[in-house]
Amino acid sequence: MRKHIVAGNWKMNTTVPEGIALAEAVVAKSAEVPADVQLIIATPFTHLYPCGKAVEGTRVALSAENCADKAKGAYTGEISVDMLTSVGCEYTILGHSERRQYYGETDEKLVEKTRLALAAGLKVILCVGENLEEREAEKHFDVCKTQIVNVLYNFTAEDMKNIVIAYEPVWAIGTGKTATAEQAEEIHAFIRKVVADKFGAEVADEMSILYGGSCKPSNAKELFAMADIDGGLIGGAALKADDFIGIALSF
Ligand code: PGA
Repeated sequence: MRKHIVAGNWKMNTTVPEGIALAEAVVAKSAEVPADVQLIIATPFTHLYPCGKAVEGTRVALSAENCADKAKGAYTGEISVDMLTSVGCEYTILGHSERRQYYGETDEKLVEKTRLALAAGLKVILCVGENLEEREAEKHFDVCKTQIVNVLYNFTAEDMKNIVIAYEPVWAIGTGKTATAEQAEEIHAFIRKVVADKFGAEVADEMSILYGGSCKPSNAKELFAMADIDGGLIGGAALKADDFIGIALSF
């Protein structure tokens, strides 16, 4: 059985006190969620230490939203993978479309970041997905494949055990426009095949593939019912504990 995962991506939202309260609310409500669902909160860097304390010893895992592409040293303003593990991170999101779009995140940098993260013992949630123009030109399969080949094909089948892919169509992020369950399933199945082509069917079958893009309690059930959708990477709806837990109750 593949792992079901519901991960909240807080992005650049909440102050530290608000973030702590949100983490505590998620922990308080997490008992309602079936034990086989892995809950993750990905918080801003400033929040990781106190939110890590809030989730310590609970079933809620801590994630960063990004990490540096260098191990340590004179890289002003960057946060290393060792810093992340030192505050209790188990995961980091990498390659979110907002980082690709606004901060020049390239596949080359993502290879380095993934390498460093895995070496430090972090699990990686790698985001892939097409923008609206690419979807309309029916290039979404090619775009996702290229992103996976450029980054993940540099790793081993063993590494893949610590990697989760999040398919996030850019046109569905924060827009209220969700991919239909069928649209999402079609590409999730394709992504699994791209993974199988390089690493074999067993690795691909065991890998969790999350959907992201305006996922909420009202549409999560339909999405999670699909054979190749193993959970969600949740933005806006992760900022309310009730909505986040509501999504996790949708399996
Ligand atoms: P959204 O964001 O749920 O607000 O659309 C998802 C994401 O970007 O991870």
